[in-house]
Amino acid sequence: MTLRPPNESDVEAAYGWDKDPELAAWNGRSPISISLSAARRDYLSRWEDRSVKTFIIEAEGESIGMATLYGFRQNGCELGIKIGPKTLRGRGFASEAVDLLVEYAFGALNLKLVRGSTLAHNHRMQRVFEKCGFVEVGDGTLFSRYDNRRYTELFYERRRDA
Ligand SMILES: CC(C)(COP(=O)(O)OP(=O)(O)OC[C@H]1O[C@@H](n2cnc3c(N)ncnc32)[C@H](O)[C@@H]1OP(=O)(O)O)[C@@H](O)C(=O)NCCC(=O)NCCS
Repeated sequence: MTLRPPNESDVEAAYGWDKDPELAAWNGRSPISISLSAARRDYLSRWEDRSVKTFIIEAEGESIGMATLYGFRQNGCELGIKIGPKTLRGRGFASEAVDLLVEYAFGALNLKLVRGSTLAHNHRMQRVFEKCGFVEVGDGTLFSRYDNRRYTELFYERRRDA
């Protein structure tokens, strides 16, 4: 498994993931409905934006997902991740990617804290946070744009000095 910055050749994969209703539901949003060319402009400008760090997750010679570090504030940031193909979930790729991202955030970026959140029914993501040394620090209510319903979300964090 490796992490690398995204480039133009990743646009179609990113678009496919953002159109996938299952992935959208796990993120509490609706699948994107804009055209591929409009999405291309959005992705390319987001991937240039230095306040968000996006990574393509590669395994077995393929781009299998995406991870993002964003919301940089008070010596910390947030982490988001998805593995696109269903058949590649549950094989340890996200745990490995989260470990690398935390190492990068604490090392190269010199941050003290990485935050994460997930829906209370996303047991897989909770397991990833736990395996990667995050602790649950609270909960909240998320209004999902996927189905306009309220869900409980859980907040996690990993501190460098913990
Ligand atoms: C959540 C997600 C990123 C995890 O990635 P992954 O590569 O599948 O995760 P890993 O294989 O590293 O670890 C998953 C862990 O959850 C466990 N798990 C799988 N299904 C589970 C379930 N239904 N209940 C509890 N644990 C479960 C696995 O056994 C594994 O733990 P283990 O190593 O102790 O056995 C990925 O499944 C995904 O992209 N899902 C859809 C999008 C999403 O939910 N993104 C996160 C939004 S916050």
